[in-house]
Amino acid sequence: MMQSKNPKVSLVGAGPGGVDLITLRGIKVLQQADVILYDALVSIDLLSEIDNSIPKIYVGKRCGKHSLLQGDINKLIVESAYKYGHVVRLKGGDPFVFGRASEEIEYVESFGIPVTVVPGISSAIAVPASQGIPVTRRGVSSSFWVMTATKKDGSFSNDLILAAKSSATLVILMGVRKFIKIAQEVAKHRSKLTPFAIIQNGTLGKETCITGTLSSCNTVKNNINIALPGVIVIGDVVAEHPSFFEEELQRVLHSSL
Ligand SMILES: C[S@@+](CC[C@H](N)C(=O)[O-])C[C@H]1O[C@@H](n2cnc3c(N)ncnc32)[C@H](O)[C@@H]1O
Repeated sequence: MMQSKNPKVSLVGAGPGGVDLITLRGIKVLQQADVILYDALVSIDLLSEIDNSIPKIYVGKRCGKHSLLQGDINKLIVESAYKYGHVVRLKGGDPFVFGRASEEIEYVESFGIPVTVVPGISSAIAVPASQGIPVTRRGVSSSFWVMTATKKDGSFSNDLILAAKSSATLVILMGVRKFIKIAQEVAKHRSKLTPFAIIQNGTLGKETCITGTLSSCNTVKNNINIALPGVIVIGDVVAEHPSFFEEELQRVLHSSL
C-alpha cells in the first residue's frame, strides 16, 4: 500500500441536511480533502460540489442497518489516511452530538495521526428552528435536554424520566420508532396538554412536521414514517408552531366567554 507522508483527519460537521447549512470552515476543509468518508444523513448535493477525482466513501449506518461496524469505520479512517493523506470524515449535524466522534478520534490518534474537528449545526436545534420552534423561550422554557430516549438494551433511559419531570424542553433524537411509548412515558410526569412536534427530513425540501398534544399522541401514529429520521420536541415551546395558533385563539375565545 502507498503510504502518505502526511496522514491527517478532519472530522467535519455537515449540518442538519440542507446543503447550505454547513459552515464556511466545513466547506473549506472539505475542498482540501484527499478522500471523504461520509455518513447516511449527509446531503448528496453537498458531495456533488466536490471534485469528481476525490474518492467519496459511504460508511453510513441507518436504523440499525449497519453498512459498516464502528470498528471497521475506525480502521478505514486510518487506512485511508495512510493511503490518501487528508481524510475528511463528514458527519451529519455536529460530530459530537451522538456522532461517536470521540471513539474515532481516540482510535486515529492512537496511530499518532493528528485530528481536527470542525463543528456543525446540530439537527437538535436547527430542525426545530426550521419549523419555527425555539428550544428555549423567556418565560416558557429556560433549558432544553437533547437526548436519545432509549438505552442500548431498548429500555427507557433514566434521563428521559428526569427530563420529563423537569420543566425543560425535551429534544429527542433517534426516537421516531418509539414515539408513542415515549409520549406515554412523558405524559406520566407532564400535563397531558403538553404539545409535541415530530419533524422529519428537517431543513430539506421535503421536510414534514406532525404536531399534537401528549393526550392525542395515538392519533398521529399512522402519519409517522418510521423509516425516516426525525427530531421529537416535547414542551410548551412547541405551541409556537403555527399549527397551534388556531387552538390558542380558541382558548382565548373560550376564556373570554
Ligand atoms: C446519530 S444521530 C446524529 C445527530 C447529529 N450528529 C446532529 O448533531 O444532528 C441521528 C439522528 O439525528 C436526527 N436527525 C439528523 N438529521 C435530521 C434531519 N434532517 N431531520 C430530522 N432529524 C434529523 C434524527 O433523530 C436522527 O435519528
